[in-house]
Amino acid sequence: MNIGIIGFGYWGTNLVRNFANLSGAELTLVADSRIERKQFLGKLCPAAEFTTNPYDITDNVNIDAVVIATPVFTHYELAKRSLTNKKHVLVEKPMSSDIKQAEELINISEKSGKVLMVDHTYLYTGAVRKMKELIDNNQIGNIKYFDSTRINLGLFQPDVNVLWDLATHDISILNYLMSEKPTTVQATGVSHTSNGIENIAYLTVKYNSGLIAHFNCSWSSPVKIRMMLIGGDKKMIVFNDLEPTEKIKVYDTGYEYKTDEDKTKILVDYRAGDIYIPKLETREALSLMATDFRNAVENGEKPLSDMNSGLDVIRILEASQRSIKERGKEVTI
Ligand SMILES: NC(=O)c1ccc[n+]([C@@H]2O[C@H](COP(=O)([O-])OP(=O)(O)OC[C@H]3O[C@@H](n4cnc5c(N)ncnc54)[C@H](O)[C@@H]3O)[C@@H](O)[C@H]2O)c1
Repeated sequence: MNIGIIGFGYWGTNLVRNFANLSGAELTLVADSRIERKQFLGKLCPAAEFTTNPYDITDNVNIDAVVIATPVFTHYELAKRSLTNKKHVLVEKPMSSDIKQAEELINISEKSGKVLMVDHTYLYTGAVRKMKELIDNNQIGNIKYFDSTRINLGLFQPDVNVLWDLATHDISILNYLMSEKPTTVQATGVSHTSNGIENIAYLTVKYNSGLIAHFNCSWSSPVKIRMMLIGGDKKMIVFNDLEPTEKIKVYDTGYEYKTDEDKTKILVDYRAGDIYIPKLETREALSLMATDFRNAVENGEKPLSDMNSGLDVIRILEASQRSIKERGKEVTI
């Protein structure tokens, strides 16, 4: 399986490192429009050739699979051209700039029989897989809330707002952990630059069961926080991604309520028990993701981060953008 990677910037460098070490695959060609990246590729992966033209990869008869790690607005065109030329495609998150593009890519993939996968890297982390195990084994109980904060002094992206850049991760985790589908979205945000692209935004996602999810995303915070709280009616999880080893803590904390006899007052009983720190798998998430892509191509296995999970994320992001435009109006997904 010959692989070509388009986009050798910050994230593309991690992808090159992982695909260069992937057994059963050859990283043969890397494209980046910046010629100065050629020298660095020579050091990182001397076996791969370099080009400044992405079509040397999308149109190359010797390439079986294309990995796309360019800015979001380029994903659709490069993925479409690769799929149309009968290549398997792994595209960076978010999959495309809107629902229509994502649906079209899925359609081409289904017709051509070629894999289309999205890199929602977090789904392959030990922490997220442990949370999935705890929730699926009913150790947390019915999930009542999901609250995520992803803020830092981040790179202002030129083409997408802070939700498309940062909340993409958290939404992919939310969708993976919850079996229920969300119903509505409300979002507000603000742009502090002249390009109108929101650098701070707050998103709320609601479900029929009463589950509520909230996301706080910012490129303008003096401190870096990567924190997720998941509350169930049995236990609660705190996921702090900045902790080097103890990323997940499970709190045996909860509350129960009763109403008094004439049903006018609510009486709440609190419970605060032990805190459990599970051991996590430490293999690099990107290496597992690359292996999942290879297995999907070679054996037709359904990847964890498949094209439909990519579309589900885009549905929430697009609805959030509409809500921001309409000053926080509730938008049905
Ligand atoms: N999965 C993750 O955790 C994760 C983390 C960071 C970024 N990303 C995603 O990776 C993608 C790239 O982000 P980044 O932070 O690496 O950006 P970046 O700006 O550091 O890198 C993008 C590279 O693509 C090159 N490029 C742009 N258009 C091109 C084209 N048409 N042909 C060839 N090269 C082109 C640029 O020269 C640049 O080197 C984005 O989609 C982003 O959302 C994913």
